Amino acid sequence: MPDLPDSSRPDRFDLSTYLKAQRAVLDQALNDFIRRHFSDSRLNAAMKYSLMASGKRLRPVLCLAAAETVGNINNNTTNNITNDVIQTACAIEMIHTYSLIHDDLPAMDDDDLRRGNPTCHIQFDEATAILAGDALLTLAFEILSRNASATAAPAEMKLKIMHLIAAAAGHKGMIEGQMRDIEAENTPLPLDALKHLHYLKTGALIEAAVVSGALLAGGDGKSIEQLRIYANHIGLAFQVTDDILNVEGDAELMGKATGTDASRHKATYPGLLGLEKSKAFASDLVNNALHALEIFGNKADSLAAIARYVITRNR
Ligand code: IPE
Ligand code: IPE
Ligand code: MG
Ligand code: MG
Repeated sequence: MPDLPDSSRPDRFDLSTYLKAQRAVLDQALNDFIRRHFSDSRLNAAMKYSLMASGKRLRPVLCLAAAETVGNINNNTTNNITNDVIQTACAIEMIHTYSLIHDDLPAMDDDDLRRGNPTCHIQFDEATAILAGDALLTLAFEILSRNASATAAPAEMKLKIMHLIAAAAGHKGMIEGQMRDIEAENTPLPLDALKHLHYLKTGALIEAAVVSGALLAGGDGKSIEQLRIYANHIGLAFQVTDDILNVEGDAELMGKATGTDASRHKATYPGLLGLEKSKAFASDLVNNALHALEIFGNKADSLAAIARYVITRNR
């Protein structure tokens, strides 16, 4: 068994209460948005179906937690979760949800189950699922680019955040990762190439979530740099754990099928290193992520607890 991540920081943080509270904030913001802006159209029904299914909300929670950490350092208050941070977090969750809808399509991973429900193309149809994904992606940028006067963050800051999220999600980020994931089916990849693939398909958006939250809370260069290192490590650990859970996880708990990576000859860490070495690697990554948080002291307790959760989760 690999060592569990250690740290000088005691694990006294109540993560489950924290996650519950943050998810409630996010779900309320998403529901409010849907109530105000969605109609009873088929397209909106498909978007809502996938967005409001029970996802873990990891990326938007990270955005909130990064804002809290940096804001606590800057002004020692706990009121750093501004509306801008919440809207940015929601937009990132929309981008993530679109990526899942498209990832599940027959032309890609061809999965029937997602977030405990039939995938979007099974529940609706392929054309609707493609369009619902397109619309969630576009909507994310509509939200991010909303009239700056209605928000507290300066327009320049919003532009910077839009740019970094677009880059993370786009052709040199998540979408390139998805392309490489498909190209790697049946083509064994060296470890370095797999690491980069995982960074692109999963790590880049996780990094964008953390960095955008931190920027909105006024993070300085050093804070952003440390949080970027943290996010890089947990992003890779998250995807390695996704690979591990695909081998030995409980499909019922995860709300998606297991065993599919092997049957589709996907390039994965367990496929390349075996389960034990993959777990040890993920654990090392989390330790490195925890080290990157040291400059924040106990202000980063939530981010530290999330890092541990990334590899100990069962869904
Ligand atoms: C699944 O992401 C796809 C990966 C990048 C591993 P999550 O495991 O975060 O999925 P949800 O949001 O909880 O459904
Ligand atoms: C999904 O990766 C990554 C994106 C959607 C960008 P996977 O295909 O490995 O994730 P799951 O296992 O279907 O959730
Ligand atoms: Mg995939
Ligand atoms: Mg998949």
